[in-house]
Amino acid sequence: MRQLVYISTLRRGESVDAEQILAQSRRNNARDRVTGLLFFDGKRFLQALEGEEGAVNAAFARIQADARHYALVVLSNRTIASREFGEWAMAYAKPGEAADALDRVVRLTAEADAGVRATFEGFAKVRRAA
Ligand SMILES: Cc1cc2nc3c(=O)[nH]c(=O)nc-3n(C[C@H](O)[C@H](O)[C@H](O)COP(=O)(O)O)c2cc1C
Repeated sequence: MRQLVYISTLRRGESVDAEQILAQSRRNNARDRVTGLLFFDGKRFLQALEGEEGAVNAAFARIQADARHYALVVLSNRTIASREFGEWAMAYAKPGEAADALDRVVRLTAEADAGVRATFEGFAKVRRAA
């Protein structure tokens, strides 16, 4: 199984509809058995994708071709024995939600590799402070 983590930046001038991205992601990811976590702070995305190699690669190819964001940088791309982000088709966290995003990220990454967890927690902390 493959796990891919990347960061990207919202394209300037795009007013992104995060709910629409989530709806698309959940529909496709449920079909393809891809799971993961998407964190969006209003400017940058941090996303983990997990699943069978071919399914993750296909999802990432579509995501890379999406003009709503740019400057995609793969932070980690590894083989995993089992899913680390649970069974969510695409869990979602953003700062300023009623349930604090950092708490949510801590919960959602509890089973993840230490490095990957630190990436998400660091991102959520910096974004909260910003
Ligand atoms: C930050 C970001 C994350 C995305 N994550 C996913 C995803 O996990 N799965 C997915 O299928 N599409 C995702 N998308 C949307 C894809 O880029 C693409 O628009 C979509 O897969 C097209 O599917 P559709 O033709 O079924 O609408 C994401 C887009 C952005 C900007």
